[in-house]
Amino acid sequence: MMARPCLLPFFLVAVVAAVLSLSSAPSGVLAKSKLAKKSDDIVNGPLLTEKLKAKRTLIVGPDEEFKTVQSAVDAVPAGNTEWVIVHLRSGVHKGKVVIPKDKPFIFVRGNGKGRTSISHESASADNAESAAFSVNADNVIVFGVSFRNSARAGLVNNPEIRSVAAMVAGDKVAFYHCAFYSPHHTLFDSTGRHYYESCYIQGNIDFIFGGGQSMFQCPEIFVKPDRRTEIKGSIAAQDRKQEDDTSGFVFLKGKVYGVGEVYLGRVSAPESRVIFSDTYLSKTINPAGWTSIGYTGSTENVMLAEFNCTGPGSDTADRVPWSRRFTMNEAVKYLTIDFINGKEWLPAYYY
Ligand SMILES: *[C@@H]1O[C@H](CO)[C@@H](O)[C@H](O)[C@H]1NC(C)=O
Repeated sequence: MMARPCLLPFFLVAVVAAVLSLSSAPSGVLAKSKLAKKSDDIVNGPLLTEKLKAKRTLIVGPDEEFKTVQSAVDAVPAGNTEWVIVHLRSGVHKGKVVIPKDKPFIFVRGNGKGRTSISHESASADNAESAAFSVNADNVIVFGVSFRNSARAGLVNNPEIRSVAAMVAGDKVAFYHCAFYSPHHTLFDSTGRHYYESCYIQGNIDFIFGGGQSMFQCPEIFVKPDRRTEIKGSIAAQDRKQEDDTSGFVFLKGKVYGVGEVYLGRVSAPESRVIFSDTYLSKTINPAGWTSIGYTGSTENVMLAEFNCTGPGSDTADRVPWSRRFTMNEAVKYLTIDFINGKEWLPAYYY
């Protein structure tokens, strides 16, 4: 299989698919198979819809049966066992959304991260409380939605400023072509196995954090400037606590760029595990690479590593001594979706 660019603009693919189906497909059936074939290359809404075989679709929009995303989620029965599509019409869907623990098998489908968004303004001392979007159920798939917590950036020492865009606390949860925006603590990747493909994540201080076991495939990470503090922020703060804990964040084949300056990660637990592999790192990365600021324990067992990264931020000459540069042998278990047992549960993935 030939390598292909990760971040190919989605509209291009859509245009190509449309042209293909117009020019050479005499019947609906053929048109469908052409689209499916194309979709094997880039995961999109039609491909996921086909794979998940949902029997019900709940449509959310101003002129639809469901006016709010939460009302559609509420309409899914407790103990649900079959995939249900919650389709969000293009536009901004205001209000906090919570997928409760007893409502698994929900496919939240938008029209693309530039067209469909869930937006809520909420700041709190508690990360979970502040979240604009919370997934507490297992088996949730999301495609093409932006998540925005539109709270204002407060003073950095004020605990009431956590303003999470999304909290992910279920197992087997995947986001494709989504975006996450917030002024503080953007993505709370709390617990469970998660997959993020071609997602845009923006922030400055510990903006991807928690104890999830997660793979970020082809992410676009944008570092915002943050003048609230002298302390530089970090992209990832991962909470792996002990050796038999399978959690960790793996960033693969993405790019990090932006305006502010950050560390790749901050130690937040004794066995913090964060790996950046095949990633373009711009000058926004502090030459030390990683920090333990705010953490008082030992850095002896942390696993903060880089492998095969490129760009001006990847020069490791000044890295902190307790960070690692993986060899191919050390990196190999983090280079495929087997790290999250993805072949067992993901409907589609980049390969
Ligand atoms: C290193 O990354 C490049 C892309 O930047 C990729 O083509 C190459 O296969 C990677 N090498 C290894 C050993 O993974």
